[in-house]
Amino acid sequence: MKSIAQAEVLNKRVLVRCDFNVPMDEKGNILDDLRIVSALRTIGFLIGKGAKVILLSHLGEPKGRVVEHLRLDNVRSLLSERLGISVTKTEDCIGTASERAVAAMKNGDVLLLENVRFHAEEEANTLDFGQQLARLGDRYVNEAFSTSHRAHASIAQIPRLLPAFAGFELLEEVRALEPLLKNPAKPMVVVVGGTKVETKADFLDTISNVADNILVSNLIANEIASKGIRFANMAKLSLPVDSNPGNGLEFDIGPATIKMFCKVLKNAKTVFWSGPVGKIEEAAYEHGSLALAQAIIESKAYSVAGGGDLNAFLQKKGLQDKFSHVSTGGGALLAFLANDRLPGLAALGYYDGN
Ligand code: 3PG
Repeated sequence: MKSIAQAEVLNKRVLVRCDFNVPMDEKGNILDDLRIVSALRTIGFLIGKGAKVILLSHLGEPKGRVVEHLRLDNVRSLLSERLGISVTKTEDCIGTASERAVAAMKNGDVLLLENVRFHAEEEANTLDFGQQLARLGDRYVNEAFSTSHRAHASIAQIPRLLPAFAGFELLEEVRALEPLLKNPAKPMVVVVGGTKVETKADFLDTISNVADNILVSNLIANEIASKGIRFANMAKLSLPVDSNPGNGLEFDIGPATIKMFCKVLKNAKTVFWSGPVGKIEEAAYEHGSLALAQAIIESKAYSVAGGGDLNAFLQKKGLQDKFSHVSTGGGALLAFLANDRLPGLAALGYYDGN
């Protein structure tokens, strides 16, 4: 993959596909800005090099219709604040108004195009939609690792139509994740929380070949049993031995499990953690996740955490910086670690060794 650092961008219109699909509350307040903050280095670099920076993203699942609360206005405000310049925004990502807005740009300007998923053609991955977007730029940058598992037009079509580059954060993600699959320092421990273990079965199959221990929450343990999930190396699985509050209620791992899991984590040299191990939205059930986070940090292992809820929790506790890497990816992260071919990376030549 060619880095954006290698691109000639002075005076060029550079389309940057970001993933501003950030968690928001019902008032539209952004709850975790990691994905926005992660894109700032690439955006700042392009501003500094005199490019016209045109940002593309999706938000939520509007299913090809305009959904008012899924407009990117709050993302625009946060970007303006963080970049210290006025970022402008269009009401649609294609069409004459967008073309006019792009034509009016000066070097160093930043323009945010409206939610690409307001058009069904984005997810249908049509060439025509890719061409309408590509018309707005001279160069393309993928800075959306977390959407790169989607074969969507702004991810998979545009890079075939314009000279395409990888953003700094996307490169960083791939560099940080590769060691989890290739010769990780041992012992390697994987922690699996969150929900929907069936979406993690392929990842568990792959990662269990390299990991020494797989620690799971009560919820995941129950899902494995009730949904009949099987994956390679099931013997590496460690199940919780108690729960909190107990009496049949399993909102968090219990004290004996915390002790047992922390002991394993403190000896680890590599840790990958996906999803909280308790109902962290309630303070009473965050003990398990907090204790595991502290054990991972104390271990000084190479540590990677990922998933929206876990990231928001680590940010709230001021612990994000203490991990070697916090991935912006949810589905993309698990797909990468399942050794799936990610369309966004494929379009940048990653699997051809470029
Ligand atoms: C994510 O949140 O994982 C990415 O933004 C992709 O979103 P999606 O699952 O709606 O495609």
